[in-house]
Amino acid sequence: MVAPYCDAVDLNLGCPQGIARKGHYGAFLQEDQELIYKLINNLHKNLPIPVTAKIRILETKEDTLAYAKNVLSAGASILTVHGRRREQKGHLTGVADWGYIRYLRENLPKETVIFANGNILQYGDIEKCLEVTGADAVMSAEGNLSDPSVFAAPPPVGKEGREYWRGRDGKGGYRVDAVFRRYMDILHKYALEHEPPKRRSLFIVGDDESWLHDTEARDGDHEEGPVRKKLKQDSANKRSTSPNIVAVRPHLFHLLRHFISRHTDIRDTLARTSPSDMDGMEKVLEMVEKRVAQGLIDYERTDGKSIEEEPVPKPKSQDKEPPKDEGANNDIEPEDDPDSSVATVKACKRPWWIAQPIIRPLPKEALAKGSIKLSKKDKKKQAQEQAATSTTSSTVAIPTTETVNGKAEGNGHTQKVEDELPISDEKDGSVSEPPIDPMAPGLTKDALVSG
Ligand SMILES: Cc1cc2nc3c(=O)[nH]c(=O)nc-3n(C[C@H](O)[C@H](O)[C@H](O)COP(=O)(O)O)c2cc1C
Repeated sequence: MVAPYCDAVDLNLGCPQGIARKGHYGAFLQEDQELIYKLINNLHKNLPIPVTAKIRILETKEDTLAYAKNVLSAGASILTVHGRRREQKGHLTGVADWGYIRYLRENLPKETVIFANGNILQYGDIEKCLEVTGADAVMSAEGNLSDPSVFAAPPPVGKEGREYWRGRDGKGGYRVDAVFRRYMDILHKYALEHEPPKRRSLFIVGDDESWLHDTEARDGDHEEGPVRKKLKQDSANKRSTSPNIVAVRPHLFHLLRHFISRHTDIRDTLARTSPSDMDGMEKVLEMVEKRVAQGLIDYERTDGKSIEEEPVPKPKSQDKEPPKDEGANNDIEPEDDPDSSVATVKACKRPWWIAQPIIRPLPKEALAKGSIKLSKKDKKKQAQEQAATSTTSSTVAIPTTETVNGKAEGNGHTQKVEDELPISDEKDGSVSEPPIDPMAPGLTKDALVSG
């Protein structure tokens, strides 16, 4: 059906969602290697275009290699390997294991085209991944959602221009207002097929600041009811039901996630904006631009101290001491601990006006925080596994979680899930924007799909 319209067909054998379990597809086919072979081989033989496939890793490198060989022998032209197991989703996403991908590279014929997938958070990670895995290309999803500039090379020092910002410590990134603008312009041009609105040059310190004060009153009013109503009326005729447009608000929640956890008024405005209301999104952009400009001005005025003065929100995962593992080296510094996200947070953290990745707490941290707990089944399984001396089973050791109505029980009490990304079972694989809790400092619930 799709063959005349595309260059290849990819079979997603990586989807770990409940819907894939029910429908017996995605990663839930991996126990049925014969069926996988038949599916790929059938497409390979009957399509005029190549078939490619994306798999998740299995419990062992050897099992994963056998899986990869099966997929390739069936006729897949490109093999994408997501370095996470099926159980690594939501709170248990953890990090992808590039070592498995390297193992495949070394044990598959040289001419095999391998794409590596997982852990691309920053621009430099792409090169790093290619080097570590020996893969031919990298595929990225979530990192790209929260920082769409992840593939854009940073400009040389002194040539930052208006869209890129570099701090006094030399670390920088593309500005969130610049990315937001480009996103809106693309939508106007290609989704709505009209010229984007004329925009003033993106502000940099030293520019005329009068626009900042001109719009202040309007923006301030916009946070109140009456003007919002007016905005809604003004834009009522311009709303779009295009899937390209209704996906915008969830995307913005990802792009702005770190930003709106600080600027909660903008979070609330975005939450109140109808998903199909482009004028409303433009209004949010204006608020973001104004706030970024103020951030840049304050940074210069205080010689970079403004961000030092601001309390950097600690990842929730660091609020509590992780439980001490018996037999583990508990003297290890959090930054060197592979079960800690501290080092990643430190490497990726930028001032709030910069687009940056969402760093999820690792499973151990989520367990310590109490956002997840072992299900009864997993507790039983863990006990059985501890009792057993043999560990050769290919079933998975990582537990599933029990999370009810956005609440997860842990440490003997009920704790609200905040700032975390529980998995969604959206049928269309879309990203939902989080429900907003006006009492919470940041987002309270979010949903992401990872295949
Ligand atoms: C919103 C979203 C939608 C996705 N949809 C698909 C899909 O349709 N097919 C697929 O093979 N993988 C899909 N994935 C999974 C990604 O391709 C990728 O394997 C996974 O997110 C891990 O890579 P990352 O660490 O770069 O995000 C999706 C991921 C996200 C976040």
